[in-house]
Amino acid sequence: MTTIRVTDRDGQQHTLEASNGSILMETLRDEGMGVAAICGGQCACATCHCFIDPAWYDQLESAAAEEAELLEFLDFHEPGRSRLACQVIITDQLDGLLLTVSPEE
Ligand code: FES
Repeated sequence: MTTIRVTDRDGQQHTLEASNGSILMETLRDEGMGVAAICGGQCACATCHCFIDPAWYDQLESAAAEEAELLEFLDFHEPGRSRLACQVIITDQLDGLLLTVSPEE
């Protein structure tokens, strides 16, 4: 299991456990962090948009072109912080990951 630290849209902080090999979006959705994930993780809705702490951002696999293009269209896009949680796979290396759920678009 990997520990992730999440600030929700109300500014509340949560410490969650995620299974290695799982998708970050699934933990955020299932733990009630307000991530609707209406496309089911198909990189199409951006309702799983999160801001990754800059200290962690470079430790994630780079965003694929499809994700990067979608992020650019978002009102709250922040280069160097924005990711779609459905495109992030949990690994041991992400233990302690710090992120904030984006405001709703
Ligand atoms: S769940 Fe729809 S883009 Fe991530």
